[in-house]
Amino acid sequence: MDKERKKKLSAEKAYEIIKKDLNRDTVLGIGTGTTTNCFIEIIKNEKLDVKGAVCSSESSKEFLSSSNIKILSLNDVHQIDFYIDGADEFNSRRELIKGGGGALTKEKILAHSSETFICIVDDSKYSDLLGKFPIPIEVIELARSAISREMMRMGGRPVYRNNFVTDNGNQIIDVHHLDLKIPYETEQLINNIPGVVENGIFSSRKADIILQSSDDGVEVIN
Ligand code: A5P
Repeated sequence: MDKERKKKLSAEKAYEIIKKDLNRDTVLGIGTGTTTNCFIEIIKNEKLDVKGAVCSSESSKEFLSSSNIKILSLNDVHQIDFYIDGADEFNSRRELIKGGGGALTKEKILAHSSETFICIVDDSKYSDLLGKFPIPIEVIELARSAISREMMRMGGRPVYRNNFVTDNGNQIIDVHHLDLKIPYETEQLINNIPGVVENGIFSSRKADIILQSSDDGVEVIN
């Protein structure tokens, strides 16, 4: 089965899981990326009658804009009922690496504000030990070199993401080869460095449900 088909399968499963609980008060959280776009496509076609959706990026907002679903600000809602998003890597404990698309900060805010975080992925994203995918770190421009040096001290190889500015006006460093045996600790350690806005390790708020598609169908990991 090709990757595109797998992405659609995970997205369809996410919709199947949440649809019975959707009503006029439901607030959806919408992530960023090609798998999430498959989910957006589904909810656009279904013409949902929900309160609205909070998006993790300008690109998702744009993709959703031609639908009847109202785009909301997180500041205007009490909480997000279901947050649907992809990931760049996941493990069996439902910890993730995210931010390949650069939207990690808003993604983490939405994940933290959600009642249920459903992560939609295909089986190529699975890893027993996280860290094959470089960890994206959103940084304040002034602190980029200092943070890069700190990453080297931690054993990583930082690479500046050229010609990329986040939706928040910041820069991204992608860090290769970091030790992620204890993702929760590394997540906290990086976020304690001044100038770090957020990093792409999702361990303190991991996914509640992972929908992993493969040639055999969709596996629900919870
Ligand atoms: C966006 O910043 C990322 O966290 C995405 O969720 C991640 O890159 C997955 O994207 P794809 O669904 O395109 O693989």
